[in-house]
Amino acid sequence: MTDDCNKTGKREQFASRIGFILMTAGCAIGLGNVWRFPYIAGNYGGAVFVLIYLVLLLLIGFPVMVAELALGRAAQSDLPGACKALSPDRKGKIWPAIGNVVFLGNFVLLMFYTVVSGWMLSYCWKYCCGGIEQSLDTAKHFGDFMANWKNMLFFDLLGIAVTAAVCGMGVRKGIERAMKLMLGGLFILEVVMLLCVLGYDGAFNGVKFFLAPDMAHLGKAGIWPAIHAAMMQAFFTLSLGIGSITICGSYIGKDRSLAGEATIIIALDTIAAILSGLIIFPACFAFNVQPDQGPSLIFITLTKVFQNMPGGRWLGLLFFIFMSVAALSTLIAVGENIVAYIMRVLNFSRKKAALLFGVLVAAL
Ligand code: ALA
Repeated sequence: MTDDCNKTGKREQFASRIGFILMTAGCAIGLGNVWRFPYIAGNYGGAVFVLIYLVLLLLIGFPVMVAELALGRAAQSDLPGACKALSPDRKGKIWPAIGNVVFLGNFVLLMFYTVVSGWMLSYCWKYCCGGIEQSLDTAKHFGDFMANWKNMLFFDLLGIAVTAAVCGMGVRKGIERAMKLMLGGLFILEVVMLLCVLGYDGAFNGVKFFLAPDMAHLGKAGIWPAIHAAMMQAFFTLSLGIGSITICGSYIGKDRSLAGEATIIIALDTIAAILSGLIIFPACFAFNVQPDQGPSLIFITLTKVFQNMPGGRWLGLLFFIFMSVAALSTLIAVGENIVAYIMRVLNFSRKKAALLFGVLVAAL
């Protein structure tokens, strides 16, 4: 097997089926599970939202994922390549144009995803250096952090550089190895944090809020906005609708059932999201913090919780390592999508394509 499909005409494959599963799960599991899902669930009433979300994941997320995987496997290509190869009218321009426009979604995703990943890496570094002092107001601290563009840019570029480096190393040596390490680590970290958090008094109320549906918790939000938010979350968490998953399909063996592979990926994604909620909500309830704080929930509210809990500095460190790993796994999988596209369209070597990817995304 080769590192560079352009020189031999053969595409590099994962060493094992696990490699494919982990790359696809890495594409799905990310900040959407560990950061977005808990704060959206908090905003829309906890368990009622979770229930709606699970139903939509099954009814809409599952078939769309199978369809995207099927496109990639049939065409052995990324989404724009698949739209061209599988178009009923081979000379037609409409499907290739649709493929290219939809594919731009990968760039749009990375434009904000790399920024939020940079915040996670930066907070991870803060906790490596001792955490946030107890005397500091975490909201003001976050405000000052947002105003410090040089620091943000540094960590943003760091995330992009790591992504480009891993993708540049190839499917087996880079992506497969990184995913094994990161996703294995992510689930271990989740279980360790869960055990720590559930030991606090009052933590069980958070579990109830998250898992026992109570219409009263929907509050002002109402049912329709909750359904809308759950639908958006189902697409976001599975990275559907932008062709990210299509490239993953191109690595599935013909002997595998697409529905079976999609079920495993959705199950892993859901377990990661539910475990995150089981960490964040009990922590909020144990320390009397409102769980409906929106995107700043973890930067302002949870950091306050870490300031006040015994051993909070270490739990905070674990927490932000966990967030950073989740962010990087998605960056790498979505990055591979773009790198494969550049290799195919510009006939670049993998390393050159990864470099161009890094420069493009950094500029965006
Ligand atoms: N699916 C990715 C995530 O959930 C975008 O973070």
